[in-house]
Amino acid sequence: MRIAIIGGTGVYDPKFLEKADELIVSTPYGEVKILKGLYEGEEVGFLARHGVGHSIPPHKINYKANIWALKYLGVERILSTTAVGSLRINLLPGDLVILDQFIDFTKARDITFYDGRDGKVIHIDFTTPYCPELRRLLYETAQELGIKAHPHGTYICTEGPRFETPAEIRMYAMFGDVVGMTNVPEVILARELEMCYASVSLITNYAAGISRTPLTHWEVLEVMAQNIEKVRKLFAHVIRKVPKERNCICKDALKEYREKGII
Ligand code: HPA
Repeated sequence: MRIAIIGGTGVYDPKFLEKADELIVSTPYGEVKILKGLYEGEEVGFLARHGVGHSIPPHKINYKANIWALKYLGVERILSTTAVGSLRINLLPGDLVILDQFIDFTKARDITFYDGRDGKVIHIDFTTPYCPELRRLLYETAQELGIKAHPHGTYICTEGPRFETPAEIRMYAMFGDVVGMTNVPEVILARELEMCYASVSLITNYAAGISRTPLTHWEVLEVMAQNIEKVRKLFAHVIRKVPKERNCICKDALKEYREKGII
């Protein structure tokens, strides 16, 4: 299995997979449920980040188990979806954003595989946090399909599970473009295991204080449901085009540490 999809809020089943089987992978961090199916002859994995039926809140997701399990199955590339609030008037509900940067405002998450317990100190470069090859494919394919997608975006990751205050949003809007609760540490852990990771954020609402109405989870789910077909179509077309060889920085994230015999 080379490619996996991580579905966020409102994306619980990979409709385009044929003959999906459920796998339970045991990891050092706990068990993970993954669907394995075929897409045009290619084996593709699907993992529902919040659990099937949305039973796991963002701060309780077992991110390390999820990413470890995908690596164990041989996955090299991850395409993920996230629901986000918009911090910019020109980023409209229903638009897609292909993330290229993030800022971590989480507070209490297990954010690394390299926690120093084995005496190894690892600092990984995050100049290009999302896989440039996957991002380019996503943007080019969105353009070919006539799907509106913004090619760049900084994701502000909050701890959640509550939505933000308008004061927080005024501050976040100075730093980023969209706000969500799940991309950190997922994006970090994928790079730590040298996997390619890209995320397509679907804007479900204007953030608190920009929106004229109080936010609700139902509104997020509704806008997600109205627009998710675009993401499915985009991923389906991107999967067909993903080259066998990886020509990006992601696979070499730990190269120097290997060369120096540290890992
Ligand atoms: N804030 C945080 N997470 C979100 C939002 C939001 O406004 N919308 C969807 N996920």
